[in-house]
Amino acid sequence: WSRTARKVDGVLEVGGVSVSELVAEHGTPAYVLDEADFRARARAFREAFADYDVFYAGKAFLCTSVARWVAEEGLSLDVCTGGELAVAQRAGFDMARVEFHGNNKSVAELRRAVEAGVGRVVVDSFDEVARLTRVVAETGTAVGVMVRVTPGVEAHTHEYIATAHEDQKFGFSITAGDALEAVRRVLAAPGLELQGLHCHIGSQIFDTSGFEVAARRVLALHATVAAELGVEMPAMDLGGGFGIAYTTQDDPADPAQLATEMTGIVEQECRVLGVAVPHLSIEPGRAIVGPSTCTVYEVGTVKEVALDGGARRTYVSVDGGMSDNIRTALYDADYSCTLASRRSDAAPVLGRVVGKHCEAGDVVVKDEFVPADLAPGDLLAVPGTGAYCRSMSSNYNHLLRPPVVAVRDGASRVVVRRETEDDLLATDVGDQS
Ligand code: LLP
Repeated sequence: WSRTARKVDGVLEVGGVSVSELVAEHGTPAYVLDEADFRARARAFREAFADYDVFYAGKAFLCTSVARWVAEEGLSLDVCTGGELAVAQRAGFDMARVEFHGNNKSVAELRRAVEAGVGRVVVDSFDEVARLTRVVAETGTAVGVMVRVTPGVEAHTHEYIATAHEDQKFGFSITAGDALEAVRRVLAAPGLELQGLHCHIGSQIFDTSGFEVAARRVLALHATVAAELGVEMPAMDLGGGFGIAYTTQDDPADPAQLATEMTGIVEQECRVLGVAVPHLSIEPGRAIVGPSTCTVYEVGTVKEVALDGGARRTYVSVDGGMSDNIRTALYDADYSCTLASRRSDAAPVLGRVVGKHCEAGDVVVKDEFVPADLAPGDLLAVPGTGAYCRSMSSNYNHLLRPPVVAVRDGASRVVVRRETEDDLLATDVGDQS
């Protein structure tokens, strides 16, 4: 839950706004974004990682308001497509503080980024190094470059595998020598200004030892570049991926603790390797925006089914589903929910919150105890939906994407409006022949 979320006589209040009032004004489903919470988390990262650049990973969720908050809180911005770049430009984000990611940026995207004056492009393939070199030559400008490397670490939530993960699409392999070759090519390319190495080991990570192993491997390459090519790269990016609590079983590290650990590892390793500590950066997305938002749905139908063995499960259908939160269906993610519109003293029963899509896998919350008297018209709130929900949303079954309603100090305002049927039909140009 976001920090200002609380219940007043059974009614959920976020940012000083009662969810019932919010729904009366904006309807359901709606993403409710707690601005103060977002800003507090952004600030916590910036303060804890004071000597770093902190890039907010826009892929988690981006709109012009959020881009503005990111700028105001002193963070930089990571975008990974021309579309995300367009949002940053519309928001008037300082392009020097934008970093451009992606494993298949088009020539048009690269040109747009270079012309806009982005601070750096993170290159991910030899093709891209060549492409970017051409773009820079054509536009007559130079651009900062980071080389994304594969540190051979794959992290998943509570674990990491330190020998795996060469077999995926991102980055240059360190072990195969591609990373060193990429550094060579960037150094040789006119207009590409090498800033340093970049790595990102995964998302929703709790086990910080994965970061440690990755940092050591990337620093070893950083030292090799210094020794063999005589170049001490000024920067290094350790990526994002810091986990958040989706259920009470998750116990995420706080930014200050992460900063202490990560800085400690880097400083120690640099001493051992005899290189200067590069200017570090990180790219948290989920850990900033994830907890800031909850999704509010209206209950439409309630159905009890018998399970093998005689137990029962209550299927609670809400007015959204996998189109506004694909994470349960796609990643088997765990979410929780709460009755948000009233107090209930009814006994808890085992429930499952499902959407309104024509698909059995359309589940939002797999298992949660809900009050036995839950009924159509009740509001349910699902916390922790700020990251990778709206940004991965779809129009499956021609549902309209919900709005993002920002709340702060007792007031709400729409920052991304609800889609309309006109929006839906706008691209359907019909048979023009
Ligand atoms: N930097 C890079 C290069 C990334 O690829 C990502 C995420 C991040 C930073 C931000 O990671 P975060 O701090 O948000 O974990 N859709 C998935 C997550 C995909 C993450 C992709 N890259 C999900 O919903 O769990």
